[in-house]
Amino acid sequence: MTPGTRTVTLGDRSYDIFFDRNIYPALQEWICRFHPGGSVHVVTDGNVASIYGDDIRRCLVGISHEMLILPPGEEHKVLSTVGRIYGFLAEGSAGRESLVIAFGGGVIGDLAGFAAATFLRGISFIQVPTTLLAQVDSSVGGKTGFNLPEGKNLVGAFHQPRAVFIDDAFLLTLDDRNLRAGLAEIMKCGLAGDPELWERLLDRGSRWKSFSGDDWQWLIRRAVDYKASVVERDERESSLRKVLNLGHTIGHSLEQAGGYGRLLHGEAVAMGLAWEAVLGMRLGVTGEEAVDGLVSLLLAMGYDLDVPGIPLASISAAVGMDKKRVESDVDLPQIVRPGSCEIRRIPLAEIRRELPGIRAEIRERSAVREAGTAAGSGETAETLQSLEQRVAADPRDARAITLLADAYRKSGNVAAAWEAIQEVLGRDPSDTMAQRVASDLANTLPAPVEEHAQVTPPLENLVLLDEDAYEIRVADAVAPLGEEGEGLRAPEPAAGPPVPIPEEPVVDPGEPPPAPVESPPAPAVWTVTLADVYWAQGERATARKIVRQILMEEPRNERALAWTAARGKEDPVETALGAFLDTTAKEYGYDLSGHH
Ligand SMILES: NC(=O)c1ccc[n+]([C@@H]2O[C@H](COP(=O)([O-])OP(=O)(O)OC[C@H]3O[C@@H](n4cnc5c(N)ncnc54)[C@H](O)[C@@H]3O)[C@@H](O)[C@H]2O)c1
Repeated sequence: MTPGTRTVTLGDRSYDIFFDRNIYPALQEWICRFHPGGSVHVVTDGNVASIYGDDIRRCLVGISHEMLILPPGEEHKVLSTVGRIYGFLAEGSAGRESLVIAFGGGVIGDLAGFAAATFLRGISFIQVPTTLLAQVDSSVGGKTGFNLPEGKNLVGAFHQPRAVFIDDAFLLTLDDRNLRAGLAEIMKCGLAGDPELWERLLDRGSRWKSFSGDDWQWLIRRAVDYKASVVERDERESSLRKVLNLGHTIGHSLEQAGGYGRLLHGEAVAMGLAWEAVLGMRLGVTGEEAVDGLVSLLLAMGYDLDVPGIPLASISAAVGMDKKRVESDVDLPQIVRPGSCEIRRIPLAEIRRELPGIRAEIRERSAVREAGTAAGSGETAETLQSLEQRVAADPRDARAITLLADAYRKSGNVAAAWEAIQEVLGRDPSDTMAQRVASDLANTLPAPVEEHAQVTPPLENLVLLDEDAYEIRVADAVAPLGEEGEGLRAPEPAAGPPVPIPEEPVVDPGEPPPAPVESPPAPAVWTVTLADVYWAQGERATARKIVRQILMEEPRNERALAWTAARGKEDPVETALGAFLDTTAKEYGYDLSGHH
């Protein structure tokens, strides 16, 4: 075995996988050695033939061969196309000693492999996979077949190839969409059983468009090694091999429900990985951290995780048609942690029941990520502007307002973010996407400090003139508290204009608290009027804090009670938001007492 070869050990069905740049000499040598004199029948599709048709013909000069060029695409992976291949083989007088070459992507591999498995009860075939997906997955392991209108790959046969020839140079002509689709199967391998592969993807996956040939070679080799090791232990998928179906139960359903040809197989698998991971989370098998990592990576790599036009009812019906079904159950691989999966038998009804919740969760995560990316990018201003325009065009567009709120949050404009998110939650407090943004927003607020210290207002230059009268003075005109701490003394009127009130209380957790001698202590008298001053300045949180403080010390204080009642009526949205935040905070164990 050379370093560029991996033998799949399956007794008398063992075969070599050759990895090389410019694979043709190795292919030619192999045919001359193992198929001297037998006819060769190349099956390919129109796209591959137009780019590589001449190359393969040159490689086969001197060898008796013919070529069938099929229309490309998943929609042609059907019985009638298999019929065309049978006709091609029969007309070309293929015999038991003939060799079929599947030269193309996974569709060609599955079709040509199935025809070879069944023609004359089985003739030899080799795979020359030309897409990433075919190189890392479909060309290895011997599964062949085609789709029925009722379900994906419903007809098939196990038929191992005699050899596989993998050349990453074929990827140079593959478009980005197909490259990304192939990456989904590599992700599957990492998640299912190769933590190092998964770590590499987490680390570099989002930059896949700039991968070098070495990057691709490493990933392909790693995924093929993993798949081959699984196939060697369970060739016929009686147990362990089921792990390779990770993402495929829901993925196939999405692919079928969307109509073959709409989603690429790998795109559907990427969605399936995300949906099944969320299902695993809902069933208590998959940790939230794993779901976060997977979904973030998929989104960063540019995958869509849902197709809005596909109704849930169609997906649900397609789930029932999966060939992995065992009566009314399905053996579903579930991620325990990245690189480790277990197979669980799950009732189809349970999967169907979970589908609406899964879709909602996926949409919400995608939308939040979309907002985060928009606001976090260098185009923040432009994005904010376009979101603002979207909201202006349709002020009832809750999604746009929520995205705008999150964009404001990311850009540091917390006040505008609150206002926007309150509007959405005021209309629909159960809007999960808005709830998530609101809770992110709550988490960006400064951490609360000790109960009494936290009512220290930012307005240290507010001076008590009378029992209920205040004036704002420049800082050094504020008189310190009397020794007995009986309250603030009325100071001399200050020269100069009032000092502007800071917009937000600033708490820098990294700074030590100021020394008591240098800084005047905060007013020790809390009154409703003071709360009104803050309220008028837009410092609503501080105003509420003050009134709460009054009520803590004097629960029957009528003015404070009336103030609370009035503000509650005045701002029902904020009250609703407060209630929501309280519930969320309790659920997650946060102390939001300083933020109301
Ligand atoms: N048998 C298995 O174990 C197995 C595993 C995974 C997937 N599959 C099957 O594989 C199929 C998907 O395979 P696929 O993604 O390769 O699709 P595909 O075969 O349809 O190829 C995708 C597109 O790329 C074009 N193409 C192929 N090679 C090219 C190249 N080098 N340069 C430019 N264009 C090229 C094709 O013409 C086609 O248009 C599905 O049917 C899926 O069910 C099978």
